[in-house]
Amino acid sequence: MERTGILNGRECSLRVREEIKREVEELKGAGQGIPGLAVVLVGDDPASRVYVGQKEKACGEVGFRSLLYRLPEETTQEELMDLVEELNGKGEVHGILVQLPLPGHMDSEAVLEAISPAKDVDGFHPVNMGHLVTGLPCTEPCTPKGIMYLLESYGIEMEGKKAVVLGRSNIVGKPIAHMLLSRNATVTICHSRTPDIVSYTREADIVIAAVGRPRFLTSEMVKEGSVIVDVGINRLEEGLVGDVDFEGVKDKASWITPVPGGVGPMTIAMLLFNTMEAFRKTFE
Ligand code: GUN
Repeated sequence: MERTGILNGRECSLRVREEIKREVEELKGAGQGIPGLAVVLVGDDPASRVYVGQKEKACGEVGFRSLLYRLPEETTQEELMDLVEELNGKGEVHGILVQLPLPGHMDSEAVLEAISPAKDVDGFHPVNMGHLVTGLPCTEPCTPKGIMYLLESYGIEMEGKKAVVLGRSNIVGKPIAHMLLSRNATVTICHSRTPDIVSYTREADIVIAAVGRPRFLTSEMVKEGSVIVDVGINRLEEGLVGDVDFEGVKDKASWITPVPGGVGPMTIAMLLFNTMEAFRKTFE
């Protein structure tokens, strides 16, 4: 069997970011203004703090304006809704991202729905989600969009392939299932209540693992020559671990994403991409 290929998200994301950086320099030269992203973090979930920090840093590196709103855990729903409303009306803000999960007392759906669909760079607004499902133009959520971008840049064929998505979250599982379907893959979504998950994964040409369980997908569960995408970010004492047992699976797969350096950097690159698109659309 041929050697396994590593789907290098770090390298791929760097190319996207360099391209966006060039575009921002051109915009600056033309005096057309620059894209602005507002990031809202409520409370101090340690993982969310890390993600938000990465997003801010990436914005700075490509030359975007970034505005960080750090609100205390006890912020009320109304206060957060007021901030979203204010950002909807702010001309220099082209993208709004409210980091999830929100504290338990908040209604996340209502907050996401309050964001103007045009500024919804996460692609979580029901209008964008609805357009994604029906195949209309929309802002696609960053993680699944990043996975598609990575697979396509390595020339991985999806048409006619059996794709199995592990996990049914609104952020990854559901949207990626639709994106694979739009590329003419035959898609199965497995989740925590699916009996005999192995019977699906063993038949799959492409597996997207987004279950949040360290090294869940093992070598015995995958087919020889399959493409394995690991969306997991599990922080263990030994360090960052994905949902795939990389060492076990890597010799069986034809292509595999590492953790870190696979899907994670692509998410950030697509957030920049979506913000640039939202900025451009203000001129249409
Ligand atoms: N929490 C985990 N992933 C994401 C994401 O892509 N966007 C937001 N807003 N919150 C998240």
